[in-house]
Amino acid sequence: MKTRMIIDTDPGIDDAMAIHYAAADPDIEIVGLTTVFGNVYVEQATRNALHLLEMAGLEAPVAEGAAQPLSMPLAPPSHQVHGDEGFGDLPAATPRGRALDISAAEFLVQSCAQNPGEVVICAIGPLTNLALALRLDPAIARNVKKVVIMGGAVETAGNITPYAEANIYHDPHAAAEVLAADWPVVLVGLDVTHEILCPASDFDEIRGNAPRIGGFIKDISEFYIHFYESVEKFGGCSLHDPAAVIAAAHPQYFTTKSVPVCVVASGKAQGQTVACPGADSPAVSVCLGVDAGAVKARFIDQYKNLD
Ligand code: RIB
Ligand code: CA
Repeated sequence: MKTRMIIDTDPGIDDAMAIHYAAADPDIEIVGLTTVFGNVYVEQATRNALHLLEMAGLEAPVAEGAAQPLSMPLAPPSHQVHGDEGFGDLPAATPRGRALDISAAEFLVQSCAQNPGEVVICAIGPLTNLALALRLDPAIARNVKKVVIMGGAVETAGNITPYAEANIYHDPHAAAEVLAADWPVVLVGLDVTHEILCPASDFDEIRGNAPRIGGFIKDISEFYIHFYESVEKFGGCSLHDPAAVIAAAHPQYFTTKSVPVCVVASGKAQGQTVACPGADSPAVSVCLGVDAGAVKARFIDQYKNLD
C-alpha cells in the first residue's frame, strides 16, 4: 500500500533531497507539493517545486502557499544556508509549468476531503499553510491520515537559535496551532535528524547511483555542506527533510514518545518546542530515536531508481 503524500515545502536544498527521494521511493505516491516561505521566498519555493517535479518527470500539481508567517513579519530567507535561489550556487530554475490557481491551504483541504483517511501531509517547512488549512476547514483534522512534520527540538538544542529549530522558529504561532489541533502528528525534529549525518562521500555515491538527478543533488549538497563546515565543523550535513519523508512512509526506523508539545511563541526562546505532559492538547508522537544507518542507507540506495 503506497503512502499517498502531499509535501509542504520551502525548497531549499534538503527539501530537494527529500522530494527526489520521495519520487524514487516506490512506496510513496506524491499527490502534490504545496509551497511556503522559509529557506527562500514563496515565489522561489514554487518555482523550485515545479522544477524538481519536472526533473523527476512527475505530473503532480503544485499549489503556492503563504508568503509570510501568520502574525509575525517575514524574516529574511536562509540564503546563507540554501543559496540565493534555493539550490546553492545554481541560477534561478526556469520550470515550464505553473502552479494551480488555488492556494496551498485550499489544496490541502480539498485533497484530504476528496480522499478521507488516505493522504499524509509531510510538512518540511514553516507550518503556516497547515495552520491556514485548519482555519479554512477544521474537518481536515479528521480527513487527513496523519501529519508528519520536520520540525522542533524537544530534548536537544535548536539550530537557528540555541532554543529553536528553524521551521518552528519561522512561524511559532502556526506551529502552536498545528500541534494543538486534534489530528495525528509525528514530529521529526533535531532530536533524530542530527543523528542522520551524510559526509560529502555519500553524495558522491548518490551521483553514482543517478548521474543526472543524483548529480544535481551532489552539486547542491556542496553549498549545504560548506555551510555546515562553517558552523558545525562537520564535513557533511543532516538529512532533516529526507528524514521526515522517510518517517512518513517507513516509521519502523524511528522510536517515538507520545506527549503534548507546547511552542514558545516569543522572546529569546521563540520557536522552542517543549514536552508539556498534562497540557489539554492532544499528544504528539515525538521521534526521539532513529536507526540512522538504516535511514541513510535507504536514502542513498533509493536514488538507484532515478537516472
Ligand atoms: O531545521 C531544518 C529545517 O529548516 C529544514 O526543513 C530546512 O529545509 C529548513 O527549512
Ligand atoms: Ca525545508
